[in-house]
Amino acid sequence: MDTQTIAILDFGSQYTQLIARRIREQNVFSVVLPCTAPLEEIKAYKPIGVILSGGPSSVYDADAPAADPGVLKLGVPVLGICYGLHFITHHLGGKVLSAPKREYGHADVHIKDRETALFKGLPETIQVWMSHGDEASELPAGFKLTAATSNALAGIANEERRIWAVQFHPEVHHTPLGPELIKNFIFGICGAKGDWTAAHFIETTVAAIREKVGKGHVICGLSGGVDSSVAAVLVHKAIGDQLTCIFVNNGVLRKNEFESVQRNLRDKLGLKIVGVDSSERFLKQLAGVTDPETKRKRIGGEFIAVFDEEATRIAKESGGVDWLVQGTLYPDVIESSSVKGPSQTIKSHHNVGGLPEKMKLKLIEPLRDLFKDEVRRIGREMGIAEDVLGRQPFPGPGLAVRIVGEVTPERVAILQEADEIVIAEIKSAGLYNQIWQSFAVLLPVKSVGVMGDQRTYAYTAAVRAVHSEDGMTADWTPLPYDVLKRISNRIVNEVRGINRVVYDITSKPPGTIEWE
Ligand code: XMP
Repeated sequence: MDTQTIAILDFGSQYTQLIARRIREQNVFSVVLPCTAPLEEIKAYKPIGVILSGGPSSVYDADAPAADPGVLKLGVPVLGICYGLHFITHHLGGKVLSAPKREYGHADVHIKDRETALFKGLPETIQVWMSHGDEASELPAGFKLTAATSNALAGIANEERRIWAVQFHPEVHHTPLGPELIKNFIFGICGAKGDWTAAHFIETTVAAIREKVGKGHVICGLSGGVDSSVAAVLVHKAIGDQLTCIFVNNGVLRKNEFESVQRNLRDKLGLKIVGVDSSERFLKQLAGVTDPETKRKRIGGEFIAVFDEEATRIAKESGGVDWLVQGTLYPDVIESSSVKGPSQTIKSHHNVGGLPEKMKLKLIEPLRDLFKDEVRRIGREMGIAEDVLGRQPFPGPGLAVRIVGEVTPERVAILQEADEIVIAEIKSAGLYNQIWQSFAVLLPVKSVGVMGDQRTYAYTAAVRAVHSEDGMTADWTPLPYDVLKRISNRIVNEVRGINRVVYDITSKPPGTIEWE
């Protein structure tokens, strides 16, 4: 298959995968390579263009990440972003200065050269997102200034050499016309056709998995959610019955989920699934624990133990297990990585951190570079049912991070009932697919109420509904009052143990989506 590829060299920016995503949105394939990738490796992709990402370093740092300057002479167009601009400037004889003050946030950029292909069709002034310390102070020979803010350089180009660079980040949401700029680069400058599809992703991923796994045996931890289902179907497509899926009841699933997930995936997707009910073991681990991270770690640890046991058992039956599939997505990767900077660990997601070291299994993570909406697109292409694909994300530690304080079997049962009502009412209002996540949280706060002639003293449920693009940021959803009213009435009337319902109106940041 002859795929037109844009090669993105990553200098350690938290935004690099966003560049790849913006390109995939245009049906153009891109590959992210570490900036240190040898020139031969880059050339092997026969890229139609190269993008040099941003990065947290200064080109003068002793350990500044560096690419082979040969990338600037490959004969294909180059776009430098932020650190990429500094790299180009530094290596082609210009000067980069340590700016006295870090520039971080919104800025207005004036386009000086509206003829340059990169800015085609853009207005004279555009809003952008800046995040840098250094700045280019002297341009390399042959370069011209193409854009500037009121006090700094914002864009340079050498059209003869087919090199363009911008100081700001066109790939982030806060640069509203960024996608236009990226389109100008990939279509106008690199000549991309835009004929890359989800089917291509599936084809290349399936082929890669087949080659990697060979005759090995693979297990997959299913959660019932979109990510692990899509990952499992991809792997199943590649190696068929060499894959066995394991679905663990960790005691903090939603009501009836253990049964319905198995039915759904076996009947609709034909996967080989082993259902393991370990709820008692998990709940024992959670007894007396109130700290959120400890909950995650206990659940993660138990998961690993259950997996080890199941893998050993399956290995005995099938003559060995070598691989574990995980539906890790890009937002999980950056939120779990321990690199310093804005994407440092916020919550340790047990499905990424710690697992590979403890397990004797190697990892297959076919969705690692993708965002949620892209995973849905891939799933749709493979014919996965809409009700599986449309399912809102559910965290690995399940209801445990939605029960503030200690997780007890009684509290799990109470929250399962409340959660079922929230989901049912949101579905019947036709809102389920428009909302990123909607759920109930059980608070360890008891208050006084009155039911008929009876005084009650029971827990509080918080209802949470958020809109989000990828879980990294989120806005609380203004649910219609009548929906809130039905949810509240039903919870208080139908769920024994809850007598008060409140609505969470916190966005992320500063809040997180889950309460713990
Ligand atoms: P937060 O609460 O960090 O959540 O804003 C962002 C997204 O991640 C999910 N989440 C988790 N998923 N293991 C998971 O698999 C976890 O420990 C975990 N914590 C949060 C959350 O539901 C939301 O979609």
